[in-house]
Amino acid sequence: MHHVSNARLSAELLLAHCLSVEREYLYTHDERVLADLEIQALEEAVYDRIHGVPLQYIVGRQEFYGRYFLVSPAVLIPRPETEHIVEAVLQIHKAAGQASHPRILDVGTGSGCIAVTLALEIPGAEVFAGDISEAALQVARINASALGASVSFMCMDVVDATVSQFEFIVSNPPYVGRGDIHRLQREVREYEPHVALFSPDDELEVYRRLVAGAERVLSAGGYLLMEIGIGMDERVLELFNARWEKLPVKTDLQGLPRTVIARRRGSET
Ligand SMILES: C[S@@+](CC[C@H](N)C(=O)[O-])C[C@H]1O[C@@H](n2cnc3c(N)ncnc32)[C@H](O)[C@@H]1O
Repeated sequence: MHHVSNARLSAELLLAHCLSVEREYLYTHDERVLADLEIQALEEAVYDRIHGVPLQYIVGRQEFYGRYFLVSPAVLIPRPETEHIVEAVLQIHKAAGQASHPRILDVGTGSGCIAVTLALEIPGAEVFAGDISEAALQVARINASALGASVSFMCMDVVDATVSQFEFIVSNPPYVGRGDIHRLQREVREYEPHVALFSPDDELEVYRRLVAGAERVLSAGGYLLMEIGIGMDERVLELFNARWEKLPVKTDLQGLPRTVIARRRGSET
């Protein structure tokens, strides 16, 4: 027994991938006989899946905010809860008046899912995205180009290499403490990039650096939006000093606090 979650759906997606068709095709072509090479490809894909390789790395893509993103083991597989960052930026932008052309920085862009989505959803936005992993940036660049998004990418440690001013800084940083590795599912622990999962020292390290860096490169009245791990909201909110206005934390579909939002006070705010 190989305890693969959603086994039937996984099998269908693997078969569709090996035949280079969409899953719906399988239901209308049950007479289709597989060629030897297709059988071999399917056997290899099933072998990988039952040995823990995430489905998304085998089929090479994951949907995020209605678009497919290329994913490889160099990048975190985009998660549905991260879409709340996109929604929150769109909401704030809409309330501020659609005519503005915000400068947006995505820190730790991974596959580029947040940066590319914002570039496509906010016409006229100037979007920048950084990551410490050059391998991740290569995937993000491919996604931006395939989806027709204009994003400027840079290899950067948090916000250290920039002196520009932004109206939005967004990030889904690594937030798992090294000591919690055993709590992760095998698929995540063994196959997703550790640089994307683990905060180097304690869980809050990248948040601390993000808040300090954002204080330097956010324009007055600008917003910092960060995804947080379950149960981290109070500790992350404590990182903001009096120069920030803390907004209500957004919850995910299960009602868990997942997106911290703070506004940089300026002379007029
Ligand atoms: C949790 S993943 C998020 C990826 C993507 N934004 C998403 O939401 O799917 C964190 C990303 O931050 C990057 N990262 C880790 N430490 C970093 C640092 N010090 N500076 C910049 N990026 C970093 C990782 O390489 C990884 O791509």
